Amino acid sequence: MYYSIAIDGPAGAGKSTIAKRIAEQLQFIYVDTGAMYRAMAIYFLDHAICPEEEAAINEACESVKVSITYEDGVQQVILNGENVTGRLRREEVGTMASKTSVYPAVRKKLVELQREIARENNVIMDGRDIGTCVLPDAVLKIYLTASVDARAKRRYDELTAKGEQADYDVIAKDIRERDERDMNREFSPLRKADDAVLVDSSNMTIEEVVSCVSRLFEERK
Ligand code: DC
Repeated sequence: MYYSIAIDGPAGAGKSTIAKRIAEQLQFIYVDTGAMYRAMAIYFLDHAICPEEEAAINEACESVKVSITYEDGVQQVILNGENVTGRLRREEVGTMASKTSVYPAVRKKLVELQREIARENNVIMDGRDIGTCVLPDAVLKIYLTASVDARAKRRYDELTAKGEQADYDVIAKDIRERDERDMNREFSPLRKADDAVLVDSSNMTIEEVVSCVSRLFEERK
């Protein structure tokens, strides 16, 4: 019997930061499911498949191979034998992932992979539909959110700290658009599972969120 913890929420709420910290504390495997949708997006971008071309996307889902390995505890995503981890975080990849994750064929393929990993490991998995669809029996489900303003500010600070150009208004607009798409798609939209605990991190530090999640896990395990 393995434990699963599900963390869902909108882009930029801090899911991966929190999940990584908890995974380290509990010695669980951190599964970043967004990275899998991003890997499929890289395939579509590299093969000039547009997000509107559902038939080509369905066909690709039958042949494309996405798998996950871990190097020093860090998730690596392999796309048809190539490690694409370094390319996953690009903006155009995130947008393409959001647009192509609406298709049932894409979702079915990746959900199977996610469940397979959870069957054989203690996992903390983050995404949009983990509590509602992928792992309905997770011992703990967290819906981690934050205001658009807080999320945009964090992203702005992150980019400028790296010395990159950033425009707050553009970032906030992208976040709103991504929320809109992820929450209103037909299949497995982002929503809080009925039995998930809502955590609003707008005014919380990372440490506060981590201790809140680990306390909840200790109570339930
Ligand atoms: O979490 P992220 O930004 O890496 O996710 C990229 C996109 O992938 C997100 O906008 C929607 C999609 N996604 C999804 O549909 N379901 C998941 N479980 C994870 C991500």
